[in-house]
Amino acid sequence: MYMNTGHAPVMLQEILKLLTPEGVGYILDGTFGGGGHTSALLAAGPDVRVVAFDADPEAIPRSEEVQAAFPERLSFYSQNFSEIEQLEEANFTGVLFDLGVSSFQLDTPERGFSFRAEGPADMRLNPREGRSAAVFLERAREDELTHAIRDLGEEPQWRKVVTAIVQARGTGKLSTTQGLVEVITEAIGPRIAGRRSKLHPATLTFQGIRMEINRELDHLEAALPAAYAKLAIGGVMAVITFHSLEDRIVKRFFKRLAGRPEHKWDATPQEERTAVATLLTNRPWVPSDEEVKANPRSRSAKVRAIRKLTEITPDAC
Ligand SMILES: C[S@@+](CC[C@H](N)C(=O)[O-])C[C@H]1O[C@@H](n2cnc3c(N)ncnc32)[C@H](O)[C@@H]1O
Repeated sequence: MYMNTGHAPVMLQEILKLLTPEGVGYILDGTFGGGGHTSALLAAGPDVRVVAFDADPEAIPRSEEVQAAFPERLSFYSQNFSEIEQLEEANFTGVLFDLGVSSFQLDTPERGFSFRAEGPADMRLNPREGRSAAVFLERAREDELTHAIRDLGEEPQWRKVVTAIVQARGTGKLSTTQGLVEVITEAIGPRIAGRRSKLHPATLTFQGIRMEINRELDHLEAALPAAYAKLAIGGVMAVITFHSLEDRIVKRFFKRLAGRPEHKWDATPQEERTAVATLLTNRPWVPSDEEVKANPRSRSAKVRAIRKLTEITPDAC
């Protein structure tokens, strides 16, 4: 079953303002998804061109539809954005990353991303490679499970979840999304209090497992400097994150480029910093109340953006 419910591009007006303010541009979109941002960028002016990446093979037919709508203006690579360094094209005027998963992925039960629908516990962005969530859960060492659930999922009751997963090995329960939901829910029960009380018991564990098996933070760490190197002077890089750990990586990378302390314990003397870029978002931009109402999946979005000032990049970046 494939429920083509579409994917509403998040904070679209803000992204257009940042990347094609004059209706022109040569844009690198690292996360094509349903092509929502790419299509809107291409529609901003007849001379806009986009080079896009997506690791998910199901993005290929969607990219072909956009190519047909905007002939000769979109190149698409069915690849992980961690491979941007190998891209021949350069001198982009804009770079966009809209991280995480798309509604296409979440709403296709066979992909295993959603804890609300029955499906195989897969969760790979690119099912052509790597190990599925089911294989990870059956075989990972306990410290790997802990990293996924405690550090990436930020599940406060991670110990109970890890123990329950280890105990469920060999029962078949870890091979489906609903089996996994049952294991998690039995381990921690409904959330009663605290800021996460509205969350489904499986939300954080699913998120951590997905981030771990797709090595999402590692790929982001690799892609940011590679994509920044492909920006022309004056070009703008915008990143939409949905998770605090992703946002921290982007924030620190941008602050380093802007010659600012990366965090409050950063003791590097100011004279040792070089500003090679300008922060366009001192604080991250967040979606308007109207957008969150119309598209609840936008609620945790944060946009950060930077403008490249010079070809020089400090060593630490
Ligand atoms: C939130 S969606 C992007 C939606 C898109 N901006 C739109 O408007 O339709 C994120 C997309 O990025 C892709 N993605 C996530 N991590 C990736 C990576 N490391 N390399 C390539 N694609 C990735 C996912 O497969 C997904 O399609």
